[in-house]
Amino acid sequence: MPFPEGFLWGASTAAHQVEGNNTTSDWWAREHGRLEGEAPVEQPSGDAADSYHRYPDDMRMLRDAGLDTYRFSMEWARIEPEQGHFSRAQLEHYRRMVGTARELGLTPMVTMHHFTNPAWFAREIGWSDPRSVDYFARYVQIALRVLGDADLVCTINEPNMLATIFAGSNREWSGVGIPPGDETITEHLLSSHQLAVALARSEGKKAGWSVATLAAMPEPGFDQAADEWSRSREDVFLDAARSDDWIGIQAYSRVRIGEGGALEVPDGAETTLTGWEYFPGALEHGIRRSWERNGRPIFVTENGIATADDERRIAYTRGALEGVESALRDGIDVRGYLHWSLLDNYEWGTFAPTFGLASWDPVTFERRPKRSLGWLGEVARRNAL
Ligand code: BGC
Repeated sequence: MPFPEGFLWGASTAAHQVEGNNTTSDWWAREHGRLEGEAPVEQPSGDAADSYHRYPDDMRMLRDAGLDTYRFSMEWARIEPEQGHFSRAQLEHYRRMVGTARELGLTPMVTMHHFTNPAWFAREIGWSDPRSVDYFARYVQIALRVLGDADLVCTINEPNMLATIFAGSNREWSGVGIPPGDETITEHLLSSHQLAVALARSEGKKAGWSVATLAAMPEPGFDQAADEWSRSREDVFLDAARSDDWIGIQAYSRVRIGEGGALEVPDGAETTLTGWEYFPGALEHGIRRSWERNGRPIFVTENGIATADDERRIAYTRGALEGVESALRDGIDVRGYLHWSLLDNYEWGTFAPTFGLASWDPVTFERRPKRSLGWLGEVARRNAL
């Protein structure tokens, strides 16, 4: 079965995870033990994949493989490294990225916020402070000016994860799956999103946000518990998309809900390098849940697997795409599939879990496409599995 005409095929990255040297961000401060009350992480991001300089090669690699869309993020910490100082040079950098994508014939999808914040914002304001909404909106308003004709804008990546990461609850959480989001932060992220959508629309853009979905699957008799589990972690963010132009769905794995809540991955189940259960069906689950709740057109903005075995990556992706086909057959409006990730990247504390369709040499940064990149490119060229 062919995918619909005009279906977008691509891959995603995020600034902090591939650019390198994002020294004015809160994550960089965290990595070097300079965030109050926080222990340094396992590995710092350092040069990462040096995509800050090598993005033209990355985009060309993606295009040459047969893909047509590149999702990347603008880095607020670079654009506003000190409160109120907006760097023209950094804004130009992102203008060039959009321009390069266009020259290569790619559709750019630009994320305005992907987990990282300027260090000053994290220290002095933070997402618990109601002023966060205005600071974010001011940044978005300025950042939008360099997007030219890039018309797909993703305001905030995984607000549901951000609401736990920023609250620090993910570090304190000893349970399985993700902790419930902080309510105050959630409220501020919802308002920030609404403002950003309005700003983007006033510039003629089509805006949405991308939500992390983790398929909550009830053991017999636990349907209600599974629903409740998803409510604050997912549904509130899916529901907020009702008046957006589109929604981004990101899916990787599942969690079983039973006695006592989320259950450990059962013994013997295949797990990936992140310790998550191998479950390609997660994507279809996320797509269907979103469609039921908000009825908005869907882009798969992230889906992938951390593995050293590229054949498993291909198998996983095929499985996930079969789920997309099944959703399309039922009339669900899915408009594109962007794989996570184009490159092996900095996985928030470590480089160990490799999600990339390409790896790179740690000394020369030379890109090494994996077989999965060619495979996905071929699916894209045929617009069919
Ligand atoms: C995030 C990415 C991350 C990926 C895999 C998503 O939660 O948006 O930044 O690398 O999952 O862990």
